Amino acid sequence: MQHEKVLVLDFGGQYNQLIARRVRDLNVYCDLKPCDMTAEEIKRYDPIGIIFTGGPNSVYDPDSPRVPKEIFDLGIPVLGICYGAQLIAYTLGGKVEHAAMSEYGRREVSLVKDAPLFAGVPASSICWMSHTDHVTEVPEGFEVLASTSTCRVTVYGSQERKIYGIQFHPEVVHSEYGNRMLENFLYRVCGAKGDWTMKNFVQEQVAYLKEKIGEKRVLCAMSGGVDSAVAATLVYRAVGSRLTCVFVDHGLLRKYEAEEVMDVFREKLGMNLIKADAGAHFLEKLKGVSDPETKRKIIGAEFIKVFEAEAKKIGAVDFLVQGTIYPDVIESGKGKSAVIKSHHNVGGLPSVVDFQEIVEPLRDLFKDEVRRVGKELGLPDSVVWRQPFPGPGLAIRIMGEVTPEKLETLRDADHIFREEIAKAGLQNQIWQYFAVITNSKTVGVQGDFRTYENVIALRAVTSVDAMTADWARIPYEVLEKVSTRITNEVKHANRIVYDITSKPPATIEWE
Ligand code: XMP
Repeated sequence: MQHEKVLVLDFGGQYNQLIARRVRDLNVYCDLKPCDMTAEEIKRYDPIGIIFTGGPNSVYDPDSPRVPKEIFDLGIPVLGICYGAQLIAYTLGGKVEHAAMSEYGRREVSLVKDAPLFAGVPASSICWMSHTDHVTEVPEGFEVLASTSTCRVTVYGSQERKIYGIQFHPEVVHSEYGNRMLENFLYRVCGAKGDWTMKNFVQEQVAYLKEKIGEKRVLCAMSGGVDSAVAATLVYRAVGSRLTCVFVDHGLLRKYEAEEVMDVFREKLGMNLIKADAGAHFLEKLKGVSDPETKRKIIGAEFIKVFEAEAKKIGAVDFLVQGTIYPDVIESGKGKSAVIKSHHNVGGLPSVVDFQEIVEPLRDLFKDEVRRVGKELGLPDSVVWRQPFPGPGLAIRIMGEVTPEKLETLRDADHIFREEIAKAGLQNQIWQYFAVITNSKTVGVQGDFRTYENVIALRAVTSVDAMTADWARIPYEVLEKVSTRITNEVKHANRIVYDITSKPPATIEWE
């Protein structure tokens, strides 16, 4: 597929994926690549523009990443951000110095000169800084374009050479006009047309998959998660009934979840979806097991076995669909902008399926793009906005042994929590929210009777990538409603606690 492309060179800063996502949100395709690409490789990649990201280094450290000077002679526009801006100045003969004090947070930036980057940007606005080094002298032929009270060279550039440096972080939301500057770079400096839209993506992918798969047969493991659902739906659009999906119901899903998968994909969309009802089998295997790692291992191994049995019934296929997405594919430049890998729940599947080739229709997409494709394909919000849910399911939210009784209590409690979060309109502000059934029982009093029942914990966190998380400040009124409802409506629960631990030191899940 031929799109105009921007190359984002990754120098290891924490916002690198965010830069790439912003560019794509502006309808321009980009790839995030390690910063050691040669000028020759860049030329072959043929971008309309290059962005150097920030990074943790100082240009004067001997082992800091550098760029070959020839990059600047390719005639391709370049935008450097933070470390990227310092690197351009350093490479082209400007001066970078260590500031006496690091500068973090909000600053007022004032424009000094008119420039294409500043179309629609007011004379002064708020930007967000995070740096210690800064450019003190711009290279010959370059001029200072914007300053703050503490950083004279906040934005600099050469209109003639189409090379710019921005010391602050235009990609973060706190930089009021940062996105506008990125947009200006793409459309006014690089001459982008903006051909990257999810509508185009769907059309092109469907045409591509039709061509590639033709009359052959495809198999997909459907988990109910966003990635596998969108991948399967794209393939289904392309080849219809030549796609068979297998959904292993391990009996550890949330309330109504398995029914919903069947309803959306088999009943509404008409997919050829086979459900393997393995709940009883998994419970049997988990009997008497309370160690978290052992539970995970058993579930992972049994999942593959059940899938294998279904795949055998289907026989040999030509293609196996996987829901791999772009963050799984990116090789980070410095290995520091690590994002959690999606746990490879279906990682063992290729070895048990008789197939020729893997198809990964979402390989180029960020998670938010996958969601937009899902919407474009007409999938309901409950699928498109599904929270991350661990492969081992509720088994790692039940402390100790998994029993049918505990599963029922947890499902009901969790369902109430989710309902109340949705009623309060908080679902898009919280990364994950769920109930946990602890291994403790406590004494309570319900309707004049002494009870001795389970303690249910509520867990809700905010996060951007699940690597770190903070506990969500849910209003007391909502917590109160959840607590009252669970203790009134759910069997075997008489005490509700709220988990107020961030990650680290805790993890998001309890096991
Ligand atoms: P933790 O508990 O490690 O979780 O903070 C980080 C994120 O990963 C999810 N998670 C899993 N996802 N298979 C998955 O697909 C798993 O085995 C698994 N364990 C944890 C968790 O829900 C959170 O989003």
